Amino acid sequence: MRKVIVIQSYIILCPILLIFLPNISNAIDTITPTQAVRDGETTLVSSGERFELGFFSPGNSKNRYVGIWYKRITIQTVVWVANRDNPLTNSSGTLRIGDDGNLILTNTSAGNVVWSSNQSKADNPIAQLLDSGNLVIREENDENPENYLWQSFDYPTDTLLPDMKVGWNLRTGMNRILTSWKRDDDPATGDYSFRIDPHGFPEGFLWNRLDRQFRTGPWNGLTFSGIPQMKPNYIFNFNFTSNQEEVYYSFSLKNESLVSRLMVNHTGVIQRSTWLETNRAWNLLWYLPKDQCDNYRECGAYGICDINGSPMCKCVKGFEPKNPDNWYLRDGSGGCIRKSEFDCQNGSGFLRLRGMKLPDTSLSFADKSMTLKECEARCLKNCSCTAYANSDIPGGGTGCVIWTDDLMDLREFAEDGQDIYIRVAASELEEGGNSVSGSHSDKNKRVVVIVIVTVAVGVLLFGLSVCFIRKRKTMLSIWKGNTEERGTRNLS
Ligand SMILES: *[C@@H]1O[C@H](CO)[C@@H](O)[C@H](O)[C@H]1NC(C)=O
Ligand SMILES: *[C@@H]1O[C@H](CO)[C@@H](O)[C@H](O)[C@H]1NC(C)=O
Ligand SMILES: *[C@@H]1O[C@H](CO)[C@@H](O)[C@H](O)[C@H]1NC(C)=O
Ligand SMILES: *[C@@H]1O[C@H](CO)[C@@H](O)[C@H](O)[C@H]1NC(C)=O
Ligand SMILES: *[C@@H]1O[C@H](CO)[C@@H](O)[C@H](O)[C@H]1NC(C)=O
Ligand SMILES: *[C@@H]1O[C@H](CO)[C@@H](O)[C@H](O)[C@H]1NC(C)=O
Ligand SMILES: *[C@@H]1O[C@H](CO)[C@@H](O)[C@H](O)[C@H]1NC(C)=O
Ligand SMILES: *[C@@H]1O[C@H](CO)[C@@H](O)[C@H](O)[C@H]1NC(C)=O
Repeated sequence: MRKVIVIQSYIILCPILLIFLPNISNAIDTITPTQAVRDGETTLVSSGERFELGFFSPGNSKNRYVGIWYKRITIQTVVWVANRDNPLTNSSGTLRIGDDGNLILTNTSAGNVVWSSNQSKADNPIAQLLDSGNLVIREENDENPENYLWQSFDYPTDTLLPDMKVGWNLRTGMNRILTSWKRDDDPATGDYSFRIDPHGFPEGFLWNRLDRQFRTGPWNGLTFSGIPQMKPNYIFNFNFTSNQEEVYYSFSLKNESLVSRLMVNHTGVIQRSTWLETNRAWNLLWYLPKDQCDNYRECGAYGICDINGSPMCKCVKGFEPKNPDNWYLRDGSGGCIRKSEFDCQNGSGFLRLRGMKLPDTSLSFADKSMTLKECEARCLKNCSCTAYANSDIPGGGTGCVIWTDDLMDLREFAEDGQDIYIRVAASELEEGGNSVSGSHSDKNKRVVVIVIVTVAVGVLLFGLSVCFIRKRKTMLSIWKGNTEERGTRNLS
């Protein structure tokens, strides 16, 4: 540490030297067991000077926290907090490597431990702040990420940085969750969290304590089914991985010199923002939930939420409101029930709904290798199957998801979205075929009827006017005194 401070003064005294020795920096990115980060004295700065770790007080708070923030961004933006629930009340904190190889934060010279990392023993541990914003503990001579003993990326606060994962390591049972701050000036564990649910066909949920607020929908190969606006683009790469080992979401930047983050703010909104260097400001790209249809189960089972509809909730064709009184008063949360039960052996078919957010998949079955035809056949064979759809949308649709529970949290999009085939009684399918279109075809039918009526009325009017004109002409010729000719003709 002392060496570093000496180098620092040296550089201040001899700025010219800096030009010739560009590799000498006044900052370090690593602590060894003999070093420490002390409040008010030192910070760690990552090698490319993207991130800095040190002590800070948020807003007007007097409490002291160890955190990581962007080094070069003028608005202090903290992306990770170590002791979020255990603040120091004065500036006597020290972060160092303890005897067992863990990072420990102490608040007195007596060594009162306020926070500690959580890993097993190491021989020559060092802690390093990487340019990704990841604080890692590793063996001094082993830089392989697979062998990190501990990393802050596994214990997120409220922010997801590029190449950081939110979700599960199924082997160890570790779940990486984004959890909001309590207030603007208090990084303590807040009420809102974003988690990946690994069950069924995995999807993400925003929680408010124990209540689900918003569901992303499952990953459809391009984006989450409920966030079509988050499609791949020229700025981001998205990655959703789901296998035996892991279930997680992550993103990366196509141009690594850009700065972008995803965070859960303390009023329960998931925000994606990008730093605009010219404006020196964060630019909000999108946020969720963004409208009433994003509220989890807004229209209950078999209810479809359409933000442009009035009312917003409607039942899937062949279903009716379970509680008509509430439904009439615009509370759709009771959902819908079948008008007629389908007879599993004899009469059932599928309604095709287009442009949908797929319903809750926590209890669904998915097989990425099946075709849509195989998916339909499998659904028909199972009497508890209520719907099926493609699991992935690229390439015109591949794979199979099957629902065997009530369909929850359906939403219709004006654009994008995907097709789902809902099982209904054969009597609900007027066209007799296996699949007929749902709500959209209703609209089309209405249009066809209107066109037919208009054309019919037109033909009728045209016919009438032709008759009228003919009659009028006849009358006129009578008036013009052609009676003679007529008379002649009559006589002839
Ligand atoms: C130091 O830490 C101990 C244990 O967490 C706590 O009881 C005490 O209030 C802390 N003191 C300060 C000044 O932060
Ligand atoms: C900070 O608080 C601790 C624990 O209460 C105390 O031992 C220490 O002297 C205090 N430091 C300062 C600089 O006030
Ligand atoms: C520490 O790690 C162990 C095993 O990996 C885990 O069971 C425990 O919950 C962790 N404790 C904390 C505070 O994260
Ligand atoms: C996602 O990340 C994993 C691990 O880095 C990689 O193996 C996989 O190819 C990535 N998938 C996509 C679609 O980029
Ligand atoms: C990446 O972004 C930086 C900063 O905006 C820009 O200067 C650079 O040209 C970009 N690089 C590429 C390959 O687009
Ligand atoms: C959370 O994000 C939403 C959407 O950007 C914004 O309207 C709200 O003010 C934010 N809350 C706070 C406390 O910043
Ligand atoms: C099959 O369905 C038709 C009409 O949907 C019904 O009339 C007939 O009785 C049903 N047959 C059996 C065996 O359930
Ligand atoms: C129908 O699906 C349910 C849920 O996936 C499953 O438990 C059940 O075994 C299936 N039944 C048949 C006959 O395949």
